[in-house]
Amino acid sequence: MLAMALTKGRLEKQSVKLLEQSGYGIEALKNKGRALVFPDSKKDISYFLVKANDCVTYVEHGVADIGVVGKDTLLESNAQFYEVMDLGIGKCRFILASLPEKNVLKKQGHIKIGTKYPAVTKRYFKQKGLDVEIIKIDGSVELAPILGLCDAVVDIMETGTTLKENGLVVFDTVCEISARIIVNKASFRLKRNEIQALLNDLKQALKEVEL
Ligand code: PRP
Repeated sequence: MLAMALTKGRLEKQSVKLLEQSGYGIEALKNKGRALVFPDSKKDISYFLVKANDCVTYVEHGVADIGVVGKDTLLESNAQFYEVMDLGIGKCRFILASLPEKNVLKKQGHIKIGTKYPAVTKRYFKQKGLDVEIIKIDGSVELAPILGLCDAVVDIMETGTTLKENGLVVFDTVCEISARIIVNKASFRLKRNEIQALLNDLKQALKEVEL
């Protein structure tokens, strides 16, 4: 029996679709109502849907053997797990953005960056040799430079619509992001064969989609 944590929201639809393409019995996940745990109708797998950070927590503690979660969440996490596969779905990127006249990479003096991702932001500016003040924000990050809370933001861009509609421009790409498979460290040894079979099925389905 495998327990698999799936990330709710943005990644959910694509993850479920990939499992379906892999021949898995995900009817319960598709017609989910208010249930939280979904048994596979063909395989010995139980799925549950959680927020991205919780997906990592469940995998770290072994309640889930496997998780599907965005690289953005993994880059902010200190949790212990094995990252075993890049699914290549849920593609987006971390960007540095602000109002067109506010290119912080050329600014002298104190720089304030608003972000939901302080660890990613800290590493990025350290690499650039810039010392910045990081202001942690929990959502609607684009608002912060407009209202003057910070000089620029480091955030996720998928389509670019949110930036555009708020008059912000991209000054740099911090890194690319996509969905990853993570595995609990003990499960990786104890359930090696089941996990490997699942990874092979997903790989095969991804290959067929590419063709
Ligand atoms: C993310 C991100 C941007 C938006 C980018 O927010 O923080 O606001 O998506 O997407 P786009 O390039 O396709 O416009 P999310 O929707 O996760 O919610 P949030 O406002 O709570 O951060």
